Amino acid sequence: MSRYSKIFLGTNTKMYKTIAETKEFLAELCALTQDISRDEMTLFVIPSFTALQESRKTVNGDEILLGAQNMGWEDVGPFTGEISALMLKEIGIQIAEIGHSERRHILSESDEMENKKVLCALKHGLTPLLCIGETKEQRANGISAEILRMQLKVGLKDVSINDSDKLWIAYEPVWAIGASGIPATANYVAKMHGVIRQTLVELFGADSAHQIPILYGGSVNAQNASELICVPDVDGLFIGRSAWQAKNFNAIIRDVLSAKHHKVI
Ligand code: PGA
Repeated sequence: MSRYSKIFLGTNTKMYKTIAETKEFLAELCALTQDISRDEMTLFVIPSFTALQESRKTVNGDEILLGAQNMGWEDVGPFTGEISALMLKEIGIQIAEIGHSERRHILSESDEMENKKVLCALKHGLTPLLCIGETKEQRANGISAEILRMQLKVGLKDVSINDSDKLWIAYEPVWAIGASGIPATANYVAKMHGVIRQTLVELFGADSAHQIPILYGGSVNAQNASELICVPDVDGLFIGRSAWQAKNFNAIIRDVLSAKHHKVI
C-alpha cells in the first residue's frame, strides 16, 4: 500500500484541443475546483505542446500542474521535431509524460528511449510520469507482470534512490485505453498495482517505493472512478475522454474524493 493520503488526478488531452479550447477547458476546470483544497489532491493537465505557454498563463501551477505529452532526451542538438526539457522548463512546465502507449505503439518508442527521457527529466527537475502497460496479446499470453517489471526495470534504469521521490508511474493497460478499450476490473488493477509496487520496492527499497504515486488509466469514467480509487496501491487516476469536459472531470473529481474520504473513515 502506498502512504499517500493525497489523490493524483489528471488528464492528457492527446491531439484533441486547440490553444483556445485548452485555455477554456483550464479556466473552467480551475473555477469549478476552486473550493477543493490542494492538500487533498494534486490536479494536473497535459495539453498539446502548442497550448503549453498559454496554458501556463491561464492557470497557476499550484492549482493545476501542467505537463508535456512527450520530451526529447537531449538538452540541445540536431533532433528535428523534438522539444527539450530546457524548453519546457523555460515556460514553467512541471511534468513530462513519458512512454504513453500511443507513443510506444504508434511511434515505436522503446523502454531504452523512455529511460533516457526519465533521466533527462529528473536532471532538469521535471516530474517524469512514466506510463507502462501490457498489450492484449501479452495479457492473453499470461505475461502482464513480466512486461510491467521489464518496463519499470529498463525505464527506471540508473535512477538514483535520491530521485525516486520525484517519479510518478501510470499503469495503463493498452487494451483498456481509448474508445475501443475495456476498463480493467478493480481486481485486475489491484493485482497489477501490487506487481508495480513490489518492483519499485526491489528497485528503491520499501521506504522510497511507497513514496511513488501509482496512477491507473484506461477508460476511467464516471461509473468506475470511485471504485478504482479505492483499490489498494491506486494513488490516483489518469483520465482521457471522460475528463475532456471540465464539468465531467469536476464531477469525477468530487466522486473520487468522497469515495476515498468514506473509505478512510
Ligand atoms: P481513456 O485514455 O481514458 O480515453 O481511455 C486514457 C489514456 O490514454 O491515458
